[in-house]
Amino acid sequence: MKYLSLPMAFALLALPSISKAEQPDRGSQIYMQSRCFACHGQLGTGGFGPTLAGDRILAIKKFVIAQILIGRGKMPEFGSRLSDADVAAVAEYVRSNWGNHYGPVTPGDVASVRELMKKASDEAAKAESPEQQ
Ligand code: HEC
Repeated sequence: MKYLSLPMAFALLALPSISKAEQPDRGSQIYMQSRCFACHGQLGTGGFGPTLAGDRILAIKKFVIAQILIGRGKMPEFGSRLSDADVAAVAEYVRSNWGNHYGPVTPGDVASVRELMKKASDEAAKAESPEQQ
């Protein structure tokens, strides 16, 4: 009976390391992988792009999501490259670090901003079509 305890001990040892590996900070990973850090600084102190630490405009959740989805000025768009969950994670990350406390962002928040953007561009296309005049 004693030999049965060996695989069990292995199983118990393996469990905590598996659950740890499944809990990486997705937001900070995307901030690095998508190269946000190259323009905004690893600590949000800015550089080519504006400083995000203490940036009060980050309080406006829809603005942050739209900025990431569409890009603006010299910032590229990420809407075609990142999923709703990834945009939510990185938006929450910049809103919740470096002294910022602007709260969570869900994939549903991102989906509703995508929907707003689609509606706006559909309406713009309608307004531009010659049949409407
Ligand atoms: C090539 C450089 C560059 C990269 C990469 C970049 N940004 Fe930006 N970002 C900018 C610039 C420049 C602005 C200011 C846009 C403007 O007003 O013209 C900006 C604006 C912002 C803003 C609005 C803040 C404000 O005060 O205007 C947020 C939030 C933001 N970026 C987040 C991100 C995130 C998150 C990523 C990665 C997914 C990212 N940025 C990647 C350059 C960059």
